[in-house]
Amino acid sequence: MPLREQARLAIQAAQEAVAAAGRIVVLSGAGMSSESGIPTFRDAQTGLWARFDPMQLASTEGFRSDPRLVWDWYAERRAGVRAAVPNAGHLALARFAAARPGCLQIITQNVDDLHQRAGSPDVIRLHGDILQSRWLDPCRAPEPCDPATAEPERPPHCTQCGNLLRPAVVWFGEQLPPDALTRAEGLARQCDLMLVVGTSGTVYPAAGLASLARDAGAMVLIVNPHASDLDAVAHQCLRGTAAAVLPLLFE
Ligand code: APR
Repeated sequence: MPLREQARLAIQAAQEAVAAAGRIVVLSGAGMSSESGIPTFRDAQTGLWARFDPMQLASTEGFRSDPRLVWDWYAERRAGVRAAVPNAGHLALARFAAARPGCLQIITQNVDDLHQRAGSPDVIRLHGDILQSRWLDPCRAPEPCDPATAEPERPPHCTQCGNLLRPAVVWFGEQLPPDALTRAEGLARQCDLMLVVGTSGTVYPAAGLASLARDAGAMVLIVNPHASDLDAVAHQCLRGTAAAVLPLLFE
């Protein structure tokens, strides 16, 4: 059967699965935002980790050893996120959620706010929010110091105790927010259909959600132009981009 026909039938089957599903979970990764101009992490040459050392820029040790270098790098990424706009994939999910309230839940590894800006409700963020900051160390003052009062340096610091502000994202070696992870695992076990969009499936525990869903009886579909570490968990891999494939499935 010609490839084009196979692809058409795969999309058709996925459309039917979306139409028939009562509870859909979308697990999204950096590929979801790449057509909005936000680089992924592991794509060859273009990926952030192909150009920068993740341990130097995305770990507590890296931040402590050179706070300004890390803060400036995040400032650049924050500017990129603010300048980006949701793509057709983000918009298709948000419109579907509005048309079928309670049917679609998004769980994202992304630290940008493009799902939210597209209008998707109640997005579960597993890896934090790049546009927010928090204290590096727990504040020991009797009345916890307000991050908004930090001295606007690079990075900003507390005038009381010298504590530094850091991006409110999950760095390598750090725990995910427990409430978000527990909720995500519960939803993965209960869904009828999980769509895994734009992730290499290399970072756990987020990547483990696909197997949780499959083991609980859900259909697992992948949207990714390239092979990923989760292909073996999926019933079907749709080889296309988020902005091209999601409107076909959800509109
Ligand atoms: N549409 C869909 N998928 C795409 C697109 C696109 N337009 N462009 C690239 N991809 C796919 C790539 O083929 C790759 O499999 O998106 C995936 C991106 O993988 P990564 O860069 O590894 O990003 P992600 O899986 O989200 O990384 C997980 O690692 O660095 C940490 O905390 C960071 O949340 C991140 C986690």
